[in-house]
Amino acid sequence: YERSPERRPVLAVDQGTSGTKALVVCPERGVIGSGAAEVRPRFLPGGLVEADPADLLASVVDAGRRALADAGEPVAAVGLANQGETVLAWDPATGEPLTDALVWQDRRAESVCAGLAPHGEELRRITGLPLDPYFAAPKMAWIRRHLTRRGVVTTSDVWLVHRLTGAFVTDAATAGRTQLLDLDDVTWSPRALELYGLADERLPRVVDAAGPVGTTTAFGPELPLTGLLVDQQAALLAQDVTAPGSAKCTYGTGAFLLAQTGGRPVRSESGLVGCVAWRFAGETSYCLDGQVYTAASAVRWLADLGVIGGAADLDPVGSAVPDTGGVTFVPALAGLAAPWWRGDLRGSLTGLGLDTTPGHLVRALCEGIAAQVASLADAVASDLGEPLTSLRVDGGLTRSALLMQTQADLLQRPVEVSALPDVTALGAAAVARVGLHPALPVSEAVPAWRPSAVYEPRVGAAEAAERLGGFRAAVAALMERTPA
Ligand code: G3P
Repeated sequence: YERSPERRPVLAVDQGTSGTKALVVCPERGVIGSGAAEVRPRFLPGGLVEADPADLLASVVDAGRRALADAGEPVAAVGLANQGETVLAWDPATGEPLTDALVWQDRRAESVCAGLAPHGEELRRITGLPLDPYFAAPKMAWIRRHLTRRGVVTTSDVWLVHRLTGAFVTDAATAGRTQLLDLDDVTWSPRALELYGLADERLPRVVDAAGPVGTTTAFGPELPLTGLLVDQQAALLAQDVTAPGSAKCTYGTGAFLLAQTGGRPVRSESGLVGCVAWRFAGETSYCLDGQVYTAASAVRWLADLGVIGGAADLDPVGSAVPDTGGVTFVPALAGLAAPWWRGDLRGSLTGLGLDTTPGHLVRALCEGIAAQVASLADAVASDLGEPLTSLRVDGGLTRSALLMQTQADLLQRPVEVSALPDVTALGAAAVARVGLHPALPVSEAVPAWRPSAVYEPRVGAAEAAERLGGFRAAVAALMERTPA
């Protein structure tokens, strides 16, 4: 018995900052196999975050092969989600890396951004993105100025896809994370390239999220790669956030809140990023996007200091006390992104006393992450002209009831946790299926959405406003102490 091609499982690979997750997804039975492989970025003084490109590729192959072995049955195609703004230089003739990968969190390109400050507004108008070393182009320019002029300099997806298939492509949404893409035309912008000194670069072809890119034998049998999408947008797709006033937030290494805006590119007036959500069959959808640079990485930092054993301790340790005990934590450990765009800031911890316990620190961290996400939700509401009705959430930290309850309290809206873990990989699976079967409507490729838990606000609007006000005052004090 041969299942009709559109009913066959696909392999979806989510190449993330601290690891790669792979799923074998069957349209009828859901996830039938999974595999994971760790990646260890290096955190160096001065806000440098690097990864060995070979580790990224090895993790993709390893996780993919594990998932296939776990499923024990053939797949019809592969989809790949990627980190977005992580870049490296490499030799297109051999595929060999010429530099380490500069991870999206890396701050070294601040000097490039400072030099371009007079053109910041022009770049924002062209690309929808504010000037910040988080995005790919500043890091690409930094590599060209300081490391090598050889080969090509691209986001990590381009290199991975080249190593897997030989193609030289990037999907429209990943291209939109560079600050080199014209947001209206969805083509490389000659003006942005000129401003960054990248006009002579060989650039990958910008492709749809779904469609055949090439074939790979990296996972064993020869398989077509038919889906490519940057990770946050893949999660947005799988979270099925399409209703006006709805958004998703993924709590991973960082936390990323995205709201779809349909076929109209939006330049945020509230400090968010206006970018491509995805392009299918030449039709572009857009989204608004805001970031918290450190979420799980701030939890890991607290664990590295020995305050907690790990993320699993957030709830037991935080529940030992009723509140933050007057402690305010701005967890800007890698700077602040939207809507403040002060990547140069570092975190602050205030209100400490001899009676401060690990529980207070844990609660203050949860409050600090949730207050940033609530600020992003406010910015989305202001850009869209309507309040968010609810927030769909996913990612490892959604296992913390303390963080999720704090989020609902500060947001004053229900927080709905996806019942499906690994939604980013599920988004990659959906685009791979559409790429394999162009007649399949995207909405049918996305798994049915359901929550595993819904957190309703348990405090009133006045208390939420007071707590948010306290956090924002701490941010303002931090900004005052460190002029831009
Ligand atoms: O913008 C960077 C972000 O998309 C990375 O996500 O899951 O690798 O932490 P993650």
